[in-house]
Amino acid sequence: MAARYNAETKTFILETADSSYIMKVSRYGNLLHMYYGSRIPDEDLDYLLTFHDRGFSPNPNEAGNDRTFSLDFLPQEFSGGRNGDYRSPSLELVWGEGGSAFCGKVAGYEIKAGAGRISGMPGLRELPQEQVHTLEIRLADPVSRVEAVLSYTVFEEKNVIARTVRLENRGEKAVRLERLMSATIDFQNSDYDLICFPGRHAMEREFRRIPVSEGIHSIGSSRGTSSHQYNPFLIVCGKNCGEDQGQCWGISLMYSGSFLIEAEKDQYSQLRLNAGINPAGFSWLLEPGEEFQAPQAVLAWSGSGLTRLSHIYHRIFRENLCRSPFRRKARPVLLNSWEAAYFDFDEEKILTIAREAAHMGAEMFVLDDGWFGKRDDDSTGLGDWTVNRKKIGSGIQGLSQKIHAMGMQFGLWVEPEMVSEDSELYRRHPDWCLREPGRPAVRGRYQLVLDLSRRDVCEYLIESMNSLLESAQIEYVKWDMNRSLTEAWSDLLSAERQGEVLHRYVLGLYYVMEQVILKHPDIIFCGCSGGGGRFDPAMLYYQPQIWCSDNTDAINRLKIQYGTSFAYPLSCMESHVSICPNHITGRSVPLSTRGIVAMDGVFGFELDPLKLTSEEKEACRQQVDFYKKYSKVILDGDYYRLTSPYENPYFTAWQQVSQDQKKSLVSIVVTDREGNGPQRFVKLKGLNKDGFYRIEGWKGKYSGNLLMNAGIPVPWELKEYEGIQLRLRMI
Ligand code: DGJ
Repeated sequence: MAARYNAETKTFILETADSSYIMKVSRYGNLLHMYYGSRIPDEDLDYLLTFHDRGFSPNPNEAGNDRTFSLDFLPQEFSGGRNGDYRSPSLELVWGEGGSAFCGKVAGYEIKAGAGRISGMPGLRELPQEQVHTLEIRLADPVSRVEAVLSYTVFEEKNVIARTVRLENRGEKAVRLERLMSATIDFQNSDYDLICFPGRHAMEREFRRIPVSEGIHSIGSSRGTSSHQYNPFLIVCGKNCGEDQGQCWGISLMYSGSFLIEAEKDQYSQLRLNAGINPAGFSWLLEPGEEFQAPQAVLAWSGSGLTRLSHIYHRIFRENLCRSPFRRKARPVLLNSWEAAYFDFDEEKILTIAREAAHMGAEMFVLDDGWFGKRDDDSTGLGDWTVNRKKIGSGIQGLSQKIHAMGMQFGLWVEPEMVSEDSELYRRHPDWCLREPGRPAVRGRYQLVLDLSRRDVCEYLIESMNSLLESAQIEYVKWDMNRSLTEAWSDLLSAERQGEVLHRYVLGLYYVMEQVILKHPDIIFCGCSGGGGRFDPAMLYYQPQIWCSDNTDAINRLKIQYGTSFAYPLSCMESHVSICPNHITGRSVPLSTRGIVAMDGVFGFELDPLKLTSEEKEACRQQVDFYKKYSKVILDGDYYRLTSPYENPYFTAWQQVSQDQKKSLVSIVVTDREGNGPQRFVKLKGLNKDGFYRIEGWKGKYSGNLLMNAGIPVPWELKEYEGIQLRLRMI
């Protein structure tokens, strides 16, 4: 079985197809981390733990005079504070009259079939007939009477272990929780690199690889959302690890709010990873009998490099996270009105754009911001989700009918979590936004944030969104969120509970999404937060796709999409062709290249077709046809990063290969061109080495082996910013 306890060695063993994860109950009942890596037989790992009398390393009282047993250096699964372990802990709390130590000892375990459900929060789910088991280990501290239930769900065949923790207050007094990490992983050495994905608005998820070094390297967000600035995903990898070789471990936190991921190199050159809700500004009062649930952390290990690690995440997110029926369906090619019209439109203009979109082959028209309330710019109207008849005379229902009559589906933009001060909603409920008493609220993009920690606000949103979606034929919703949270203060909570606001906001959001999105399974929901400011796995539980970035410059997008691809499958990355010069960077890139780059995800347009020549419109139509032909390979195939835009200044190349290896698409974009430079080659990946392939438009046939070892020449005729898509078919 994928999860078991060996009573003889006192070890818990988790096994996936390729990896083993092993923990051991120490002689004093502590839960120690023994191993996470390549799958090994059931053997005695005790020799891996060495015991020495270390200076200034305290010994638990139960160790008597044994000075060699100290939590200061032993690798642990869950580290309580004030017990001799000075590394960053898994848990911080205040219980009883002010005690803060947590000495949890193994008090029992249970192994259940299935993944179980995490109440109120997203989590990976098992597919029917899938081999999934969940091990729960209970750590009890009889003095604080707090118990931590560590949960490990093993997706055996998919090589994933999902961890979470539930904290229970079994005492008679309230406990104040100040920190609870979803996962702590101790490595006994630290000769590794970290890969993380920092960014900013319009340049999200850049790739950074840095060596583990002394101290704590932390990434995270305190913005109330997972943020543009850091993605809740970290990779630890060996120094020799590359795309196709070496060990690496991934940790992905399924959370859309403020988070923290830390990598700490300690005094003995060991490494501790922690991932969980950001403790800064967080506290939670746990009354007797109450529980607190941490979000899930998704762990994966690869012994053969980063591509394999990405494939593990792509597969599990596609199959076991995303619940939308669209996860398996082709997504319609849409044209979004934002960069076409911004706020400046009326019905006639929208219909003209839509008509042209239909001629270009678009299958859906999406009306972005500006259709509701008094919304002529971004300073007003949020919260008033009724159509502005001055702009859209026929209303949403009438407009939707007209769009459908053109043979397209219809989509709409909303930003439910926000309110403008100049709105009916704000005038009716000024107390519904987050702000501190006696202090005017901080604005972001002129707007305020609704207090989703309040049930009445959530119910209002559910009602207003559901009635909007039922008022017309709407097949797609872009759910936007355009600012970071600032104040974390809610009118309905007592002073001692204000530390709960940010997490309650996230739970409120999940509740609203569950009620709105699940009620409309036939609508495609697309997540957005000023582009990719909330691009996290938790959002994918509700929405099958997310707008990757407000930056539609094809050359910048090479980096954004490259970074995003480490954890996230192409099927969730919305990517559009826009106009040139690009509205953000001012750069001009050939239309064909813009198309190639936008096909590195869920393809669409974000432009005013009236600004295109008829040849350009025809080219767009051909892009749509091409994409529809290849969308299965693109969205369901295996993804390979052939080059890194950070390491190769000359060109960026990537490849999709169908699951049966019969079809493949290779994309190359030249990012810099020197005069009379060397002939550059790119080696393909993921092909059947014994199979023979034809490349459309090329003479001859080539073995997978040859294409993967000798590669193909980057076509000489490609000039700067030009690109090519090569279609391979096995014969
Ligand atoms: C931010 C989004 O990322 C854009 O695509 C657009 O929808 C605007 N918001 C609308 O305000």
